[in-house]
Amino acid sequence: MSSVDLSEHRKNFLRYTERFNEIPEAAPLRLKVEHTFRVLEHACRIVEHLPQEVSVPREILQDEEAGRAAVLAALYHDCGRFPQFSRYRTFLDARSVNHAVLSFKVMRDEDFLRQESRRVRALAQCAVLLHNRHILPPLLERDARFAVDVVRDADKLDIFRIMAGYLTQALPEKDAVLLHVKDEPDRWSKEIEAAVLTGRVPGYAELRFVNDFRLLLGTWMGELRFEVTRRALAESGLMEIVLEPLNKLPGLHTATKLLYRQLEACRSPRAGSTGGGQ
Ligand SMILES: [Fe+2]
Repeated sequence: MSSVDLSEHRKNFLRYTERFNEIPEAAPLRLKVEHTFRVLEHACRIVEHLPQEVSVPREILQDEEAGRAAVLAALYHDCGRFPQFSRYRTFLDARSVNHAVLSFKVMRDEDFLRQESRRVRALAQCAVLLHNRHILPPLLERDARFAVDVVRDADKLDIFRIMAGYLTQALPEKDAVLLHVKDEPDRWSKEIEAAVLTGRVPGYAELRFVNDFRLLLGTWMGELRFEVTRRALAESGLMEIVLEPLNKLPGLHTATKLLYRQLEACRSPRAGSTGGGQ
């Protein structure tokens, strides 16, 4: 799969985000622009490294449109964050709107994909719409599932970076980024600990403490679909930063140890699962 030319789309996206520069307290939105371009970079990397992914079917490897749709979806996946923050001053979907649905509507209303083929448009829209779903629909077509997986892996990889940063320093946007969880270093939710131990990925709405967030990020490791993403995470050192404070909580020892084992598995080829439901 060859690399994808996105220069016009990058310009479109930036022009769109500039409309939100004037709103008060817009710093978190500037972070969303940075997040978007990093997610795009990760998505391009996944698509370029597909031939090395043992679990990706041959027809996907040769499917230029699916690759293009995946990276376009990465670029536009969070465009709804801008009107979301502008209207509600939060990124918490539970207190505002589903930002993926809003991104889908913005893409449609702004006609960002007008130059693309009908199939690329449909695949990219589907990937944007589903990128934040806790559980994906089980009967997705293979190409649609591929595009969604690329966006979700790329998105998670950058969220690890953002959260590792926010979990180690006090910044003004911390509250918005941490989605309003309580910063009590000795506390965590038993339900989230149980989720780690049973391999369940908790939803954002279940989180109450910062340590819950750390555990949630740990469970995401098992959700990464592509080897290139798992390796990038393992080599980044970000997961160690996220998990480190949990080492001081003896009551969480079993869960923490399990997460470190999963991190170690990310370093080896063919670690984790690919292609299944979640
Ligand atoms: Fe998102």
